[in-house]
Amino acid sequence: MPSGGATVVEFKVDVPGTFILVDHSLTRAFNKGALGMLKVNGPEDRVIYSGKEIDAVYLGAQAEAGSESAKREAELKARISAEMRSNPTIAGLTKEMQIEKGKQVYMGLCFACHQPDGKGLPGAFPPLAQSDYMLADRDRAIRVVLKGLSGPVTVNGVTLNSVMPPQEAVLTDQQVADVLTYVFNAWGNTGDAFKADHVKTIRNESR
Ligand code: HEC
Repeated sequence: MPSGGATVVEFKVDVPGTFILVDHSLTRAFNKGALGMLKVNGPEDRVIYSGKEIDAVYLGAQAEAGSESAKREAELKARISAEMRSNPTIAGLTKEMQIEKGKQVYMGLCFACHQPDGKGLPGAFPPLAQSDYMLADRDRAIRVVLKGLSGPVTVNGVTLNSVMPPQEAVLTDQQVADVLTYVFNAWGNTGDAFKADHVKTIRNESR
């Protein structure tokens, strides 16, 4: 049929369903939306059409195996990460790794003020080694690193009134978690690892 032509056809539909009619003139199909739906009611004939639409018709065995296998793979991945979280050896190694990475952050950034031994400098920088102030409140420790600190602060009975610059523009959530995991586990301090998610929550707190 030539472009712009028209015709009338008669045909019989053997099974019920919704049949999509497409005008195969591409320009019209794309620009005018030449699609129609023919709804056919009546008794079903399972011999002609099973009623199931499956990709396998087009993709073959790949489709059938594919979806099942992808589901199974996702299941296995979820089990591995659950296992990793609950396995104390792996959890311990993860913490050790954070401590090492955190030490690198500390030695690049914090040590200049708080000193490599974490003892600070009297009258200028407070100690992090066995700091009662720092160890008492993990949320606050995150906040100090991200947002900085100014005004009087009492650490181990000594009051200082100085300014620590905020580090939120310099450090990622993971780096803050790592450096705090380090300072909470160095110089006689002990504490659980910090999680990047926790840092993120504090970073997004309204000020
Ligand atoms: C430019 C110097 C400087 C740098 C860099 C710095 N701090 Fe501080 N920090 C200070 C000062 C000064 C205070 C006390 C502020 C006040 O008096 O209010 C402080 C306070 C703190 C406190 C709370 C008080 C305490 O001793 O427990 C913590 C925790 C802390 N800093 C951790 C860090 C960490 C971790 C880093 C590196 C990511 C860091 N700081 C980088 C100067 C610094």
